[in-house]
Amino acid sequence: MMLTIPDVLAPEQLRQCRVALEQGAWQDGRGTAGHVAQRAKDNQQLAQDDPLAVQLGDFIVDCLGANPRFVAAALPLKVLPPRFNRYAGGGTYGNHVDNAIFSVPGTPHRVRSDLSATLFFSEPDEYDGGELVIEDTYGSHSIKLPAGHLVLYPGTSLHRVMPVTRGVRLASFFWIQSLVREDGQRSMLFELDQAIQGISQQLPESPEVVRLTGVYHNLLRHWANT
Ligand code: NI
Repeated sequence: MMLTIPDVLAPEQLRQCRVALEQGAWQDGRGTAGHVAQRAKDNQQLAQDDPLAVQLGDFIVDCLGANPRFVAAALPLKVLPPRFNRYAGGGTYGNHVDNAIFSVPGTPHRVRSDLSATLFFSEPDEYDGGELVIEDTYGSHSIKLPAGHLVLYPGTSLHRVMPVTRGVRLASFFWIQSLVREDGQRSMLFELDQAIQGISQQLPESPEVVRLTGVYHNLLRHWANT
């Protein structure tokens, strides 16, 4: 399931992040790519231990934890500290599949990348190209979202970032290990959750809402690994 989460950051939060990122200590992004991906990668990143990356990353994780749509869709167990990238001057990242397992820097913990996320910091009209193109069984999807919006997609997906031929594309990207590993199960739980919310708004006193909510939690109990 591919999903957009709008307005992860409020306008003023977004503005402050942008100001900070524009003055960031950007480095060649090839250092963090795996063997195969290294050849395809031409962008810049903040170092993972860069204080700005750590600070903004923590802030993003807090915002996502308070975002009901993100929590319902991702059912997050662990979130890898967000990373930051910058594409300009033809910068691109060719087709690749992300690593399955990431180490959390400075800890013995590892995160399985069930879901990939990209949070856009540049407005679409500030740059040409730079679409995130995600392939799935329904074809290829070209994603270019307003600043402050996030796309969530299965970590199994083949994807690329098209060359940025004008302007600068700033984004954050990270991975989530979900309580529910399997994308199909997670998608059904999200559908059920959204349907229950819709019904409960129309029929707040309905006993069926209570029963369906029970089904939701019992499915989650059945499928979740903590
Ligand atoms: Ni990737």
